[in-house]
This record gives sequence, structure tokens and C-alpha cells, in this order.
Amino acid sequence: MVCLYLNARNALLKKEVISIGILDKSIIHPREIFGPAVELRAAGIVLLHNHPSGDVTPSKQDIEVVNKILEAGKIMGVNVIDFIIVSENATHSFFTEIQSSDSKVTHYVSDGVQNSLFDLLETEQPIYTPEIKKIHKVYFYPESRVKTGRFRLQNRRFLGNKYKLLGFIEDIVNEKCNGFGVFCDIFAGTGVVGERFNEKGIKVIANDFLASNYLPLKAFLGTSEIDFEEIEKKINLLNNLEAHNDNYFSEHFGNTFFTLGNARKIGAIREKIDEIVKGDNEKAVLITALLYAVDKVANTVGHYDAYRKRLDTIQPLRLLAPDFGPENNANNEVYKEDANQLIRKISCDVLYIDPPYNSRQYSDAYHLLENLASWEKPSVHGKAKKMDRAHIKSDYCLNSAPKAFDDLISNANCKHILVSYNNTGESKDGRSNARISDERIINILKTRGDVDIFERDYKAFTAGKSDTDGHTERVFYCKVTK
Ligand SMILES: C[S@@+](CC[C@H](N)C(=O)[O-])C[C@H]1O[C@@H](n2cnc3c(N)ncnc32)[C@H](O)[C@@H]1O
Repeated sequence: MVCLYLNARNALLKKEVISIGILDKSIIHPREIFGPAVELRAAGIVLLHNHPSGDVTPSKQDIEVVNKILEAGKIMGVNVIDFIIVSENATHSFFTEIQSSDSKVTHYVSDGVQNSLFDLLETEQPIYTPEIKKIHKVYFYPESRVKTGRFRLQNRRFLGNKYKLLGFIEDIVNEKCNGFGVFCDIFAGTGVVGERFNEKGIKVIANDFLASNYLPLKAFLGTSEIDFEEIEKKINLLNNLEAHNDNYFSEHFGNTFFTLGNARKIGAIREKIDEIVKGDNEKAVLITALLYAVDKVANTVGHYDAYRKRLDTIQPLRLLAPDFGPENNANNEVYKEDANQLIRKISCDVLYIDPPYNSRQYSDAYHLLENLASWEKPSVHGKAKKMDRAHIKSDYCLNSAPKAFDDLISNANCKHILVSYNNTGESKDGRSNARISDERIINILKTRGDVDIFERDYKAFTAGKSDTDGHTERVFYCKVTK
């Protein structure tokens, strides 16, 4: 429940979250409502609370609470202006009733434990059911290091990658999903989560709708036949390419995202790959070698929304072959599709869902890699030289995110669902706030079965040093029964 505190002219003094639904109740205590009102010397208040079900019809308890708050307001001398029920698509206001009603007085009936009229303002309104299970285990992970002469799948900077959370995710899978054979990572990004299960001989379905993620996924997880000798030869040829003239890539990204020398070489190598490549697997492997090498020499903080002012990232570009065991990949499936389309065509035992959480589009952050991977040489705009990305905008970054998630879950053909979603903490920069509320995630998952929540403070431990960035990681688990 949220309370807006207004002055005598109905101007907003403050907005306060009064209570959050817990377990099976929403606690609404007048102390919380009227305490700040007195402190702020507010003349009036407006109360808002949500009905996660979507139906804004006032319940019996809502009507009781309104009457009780009116009564309390009368005693405190604070004008209760409105009580509004909201859902995602509708609202219900008590304004007319409140303003026209004389019957603001409620008759209180003691239930034996009542000490004051305020004790009656606790409503029995089910909101949440699942409890949050806090995990305090410390997970160690090996330092992300380039194995001599090869790129490993995790040797790449990628926003929201789950490399440091693999132990946490794996523990939940081990606890909840007994004996499974097919794991689907439907918003795979780098693919680190799928790879963890692939190493154990489990069939992996990996998907991402961006070409710059799909091609590495295809190389690392989807390539079961490849001649590594041939690949090494071609990578050698590409590394030794001389590029003294400007090209599409250097014209747009030279002297900003890269040194001019590296940018010319990247453009020339990308052109050459299309000339020398044989078959889809080889193409995925060579482009992956280039994308990973590009990340190492980019003059950025890890994404391509902007470049660093000082161009001091001057090491030369060097491609390495991706490191994977083709024998592990024989049964895997790799797709480049919209998750909501793909979900209708596949089935699996464990469905792992790690969509974008906020309004930051991955196609914005990685436009440059996407441009390089697709190599259609589109016109680019603005300081960061972004191409048109309308076709690769994710619904999960828009207001339509809850609807997309609902559609995904209702079409999932699987036994277990795990959802990574970060709803903890609101930032001033609205771009970082999550698109789907915890309540909504839970309610959607509950349409398919019981839900558990696992939560862990995100402490990043490396060999020797530890750091915490203060946020919490969550995984929602649903055992599919419906
Ligand atoms: C949070 S990241 C996944 C990170 C990943 N688990 C990892 O560890 O690297 C979300 C990914 O979903 C992809 N994505 C966003 N919307 C999508 C959609 N509608 N269909 C398929 N992939 C999508 C983005 O390109 C991005 O790579």
C-alpha cells in the first residue's frame, strides 16, 4: 500500500510505501499511515493499493478498511481524500463514496485481542504465498582466465551474465529437478548456464535472438563436427591479414571504440571470413573468434552505449579459436528466435528463463557486435554509431513485459521452470527498475504449479579477494503440475 501525503492545497508532500503484501496478509496499520501524516503536517492523504489478480472490484475487507481509515482520519484531523485500488489495467476509486458519505463512522467489534481501534485495521487478504529461502552459502568459481591459445565461453564481458551465480543455480536444480535429461536456456546470452549442464552430458537447448549471441552459442554448444586444424589455419591467416585502408568498420568505429589500426583490421577480417568460410559451423566458429577478440580491445567499459574518452586500449587484435568439445554437442539444439515463438515449438525437462529485467535493450548495449556479426553494413547514427534496431527490441524491456512473460509461461512444455529475475532495489534512473513485479511473476508461475523463491546476496568471491555490490539475486522455481 502506498500513501500520498498532501498539503492543504493538495500538493504532494511525500509518497510513502506503507506496507508490502507478506505471506497471506497485507498489514495496514494506521500508525504507518498517520505517523508520517503528523510528522509532515499533511492536510490530506490518498491511499493506493493493488490487486495482483487484476480484478479491482473492492473486497469486503477493502470496504472495511476504507471505513476504518476514514474514522481514524477524522480523529487525527487528516482528510482522507481517496482510496484507490489499482491493477495492471484498471483502477477503482472510492472518491465519490468518501466525499458524499456521512457514514464514515464504523462500529468496532472487539475480537478479544483488540486494544485500540487501530488493531482492527489488519486485513486478511491473501497476496503472496511463497516464502523466500535465503541462501547463505559462499560459492567459489575459478578466475575467468583465457586458457592458453583458446577462448573459453565465459571469456567475454556481458551484462547480466550468470557466470558467478552458476553454483547457486546448479544447487537449486540439484535440489528440485531430480534426474532430468534436457535443459533449455531460452534467453541464453553468453550461454554459461547451458554450458554448465552440457558439461555433465545433459542435452542443452540454447537460444538468443541476437546474432552476436547466437553465433557464439552455435560455436560453443551447437557445433558437433569441426576440423580444428583447419580452424587454426584460418585463424592464423586472419590474424596475419594486413589492413592499411579504411573500410565500413573503421570509418564508423575507428578512433572511438577502437584504435584506427584495430578497427581497419576488424573490418578486413570480417570481410575475409565471408570469403574463406565453409559451412555454418565454421562461420559460427570464426565469427565467434572475432567477436571475442573484439571485446578484448574495445575502448569501452564492456558495452557499446558509449566509448571511453581516452583511447588507451591499444593492444593489437588477436583472434583465438573457441574452446569446446564437439563430442558434447551432438544432441544440443541452438536457436536464434524470439523466446515466445520458440517456446511453442520445443519441449524440455528444465526451462531456465533469464530475460532482461529492465528497459535497457541488449540490442542497444551490443549494437556494434550485432552489426559486426550480421555484417549487412547498415547506416549508423549518433555518437555511438548505432544502426536501426527496431527489429531486435525485446518485449521484456517494455511495458508489455508481464504480458510476454505470461504468454511464455503458459506455453511452456516442461517439468520445471527456473526464473532469474532481479527486483531488489529501485534506482533513481528509471531505466534500471525491473519491468515485472515479484507478485506478478509469482502469480503467473502459480498458474502452472507451486512456487519457491531462492534468494542470495550477490557476493562475488574470487580466489583470495571478495567484493559485494550490495544487490540480491533471486531465482523463482516452479514445479510444473498444471
Ligand atoms: C539477462 S541476459 C541472459 C544472460 C545469460 N543467462 C548469461 O549468463 O549470459 C538476457 C538475454 O536475453 C536475450 N533476449 C531478450 N529478449 C529476447 C527474446 N524475446 N527472445 C530471445 N532472446 C531474448 C538478450 O539478447 C540477452 O542476451
